[in-house]
Amino acid sequence: MTQDELKKMVGWAAVEYIKPDMVVGVGTGSTVAHFIDSLATQKHLIKGAVSSSVASTDKLTALAIPILDSNEVDGVDIYIDGADEFNPDLMMIKGGGAALTREKVIAAMAKQFIAIADKSKQVDILGAFPLPVEVIPMARAYVARELVKLGGLPEYRQNVVTDNGNVILDVHNLKILDPIELENKINAIAGVVTVGLFAIRAADIVLLATPTGVEKLTAKKP
Ligand code: 5RP
Repeated sequence: MTQDELKKMVGWAAVEYIKPDMVVGVGTGSTVAHFIDSLATQKHLIKGAVSSSVASTDKLTALAIPILDSNEVDGVDIYIDGADEFNPDLMMIKGGGAALTREKVIAAMAKQFIAIADKSKQVDILGAFPLPVEVIPMARAYVARELVKLGGLPEYRQNVVTDNGNVILDVHNLKILDPIELENKINAIAGVVTVGLFAIRAADIVLLATPTGVEKLTAKKP
């Protein structure tokens, strides 16, 4: 199976979790694009979708799925999103599609967070995928120097402006042994809007696409 076939399989598997009257958080990316296709089959049943990016809003709108403003809902019943990497605790690196800030807000609002991923995203230790950090433009060089002090090699993502008008630093060379500690440290740097580590609020479930089917993973109990 190709990677896109795996993404499609897991994107469509996620729709099983959508129930009537839900407010559905919708992530961003190529796996989520398949989920949005499957969500269109439920569009008359759900209250609506809270979108994490302009790109996802455009696709939801094209399929006539009702959009809800994040400020006009009390919460999100379920959030479906992709991942760039996830570990056995279902902590993730996200933000390859530069939508990490809105994704993190919706994850925080969500009662249940389901990540959809193919096998290539599964790791023991996070960090091989460069860690995205969204930064306000005037703080870019300062934040980059602070990230070097943490052992990273930040690279400015050229020609990318986020939906919030900010820039992205992709941090290479990290072996993230304590994801919660690193998330807190990077959050504390002035000028950082969001770090793409989803460790404090990890996924509740990962739906993992494999050539033999979709596996449901839950975090190991401590
Ligand atoms: C966007 C994200 C995506 O969920 C992540 O990059 C995975 O994308 P894809 O499904 O295209 O592999 O975090 O900011």
